[in-house]
Amino acid sequence: MKIINLGTKKLASFYVACELFKEMSQQPNSKLGLATGGTMTDVYRYLVGLLEKNQLDVSHVETFNLDEYVGLQPKHPQSYHHYMDEVLFNAYPHFKKGNIHIPKGDSKHLEEEAERYNQLLNDKGPVDIQILGIGENGHIGFNEPGTDLHSETHIVDLTESTIRANSRYFESEQDVPKQAVSMGLASILKAKRIILLAFGEKKKEAIHKLMTNQVTRDIPSTILHAHPNVEVYVDDEAAPDSNE
Ligand code: PGA
Repeated sequence: MKIINLGTKKLASFYVACELFKEMSQQPNSKLGLATGGTMTDVYRYLVGLLEKNQLDVSHVETFNLDEYVGLQPKHPQSYHHYMDEVLFNAYPHFKKGNIHIPKGDSKHLEEEAERYNQLLNDKGPVDIQILGIGENGHIGFNEPGTDLHSETHIVDLTESTIRANSRYFESEQDVPKQAVSMGLASILKAKRIILLAFGEKKKEAIHKLMTNQVTRDIPSTILHAHPNVEVYVDDEAAPDSNE
C-alpha cells in the first residue's frame, strides 16, 4: 500500500479528480465506486469542472455508491443519494439515471435490498476505481470495527463514534440514523484499484493505525493490506509523522 502526502486537501482532491476523469475518458464504459462525506466534496467539485471543460460523454459510465443511511428518502437533504445529486449528478447532468446505483436506505425490506445491491455489484462489477474515505474509528464504507472481513453488502448498526462524527451534518445527534446499508469489506476489496483519502488532524490517528497494523477486524481499513493496488492520499494534517 502506497501512502502519499500531497500537502493539502485541494491538491489531493484535484489529483484524484484527474484520476477519475482519466479513467472515464480512456474507458467510456468504466465503472466507478463512489464515496460520500466531507472528504469527497472537493474531489467532485474538481471532477465536475473537468467534465464540463471537456464535455466528456459519460452516458456509458456506471457508478456504484458505497452506502446509504437507513430510513432516509433519496430526497432527504442528508441522504447520500441527495449528496450525490448535489455534488455530481445534477452538477453534470449527463450520467444516465439507470447507470447510477445507490443502495435504497428507505426500502421497507432492508435485508432484501442489501441482497439486491450485492447481486448488482457481483453482476456488474468489479469497479475500475473505488474511492474511499476513512472514519475516525477506522471504518471504510460503514463497516464499523468488528465487521466480518468477508462481509458483503449488509445492514450496519452505526457505532457511537460514527454517530457523533456524522452529527456535524445533521441538526442534532438524535437526527443521525442509527443504521446504514453498506457494501461489505469483501465487496470493497473486489475493486481493481482503490484510492483512499484522508484529510485533517482528526484522521491522523486512523491513518496511523491503518499504516501500522496488520489486517484486523478491530480496524476495518486494515483489510486494504490484502489488496494489491491501494493508494492512500493525505494532507499534512493527516500524514503520519516522518519518523514512523
Ligand atoms: P467524512 O467521512 O468524509 O465525512 O469525514 C468519511 C468516513 O466516515 O468514511
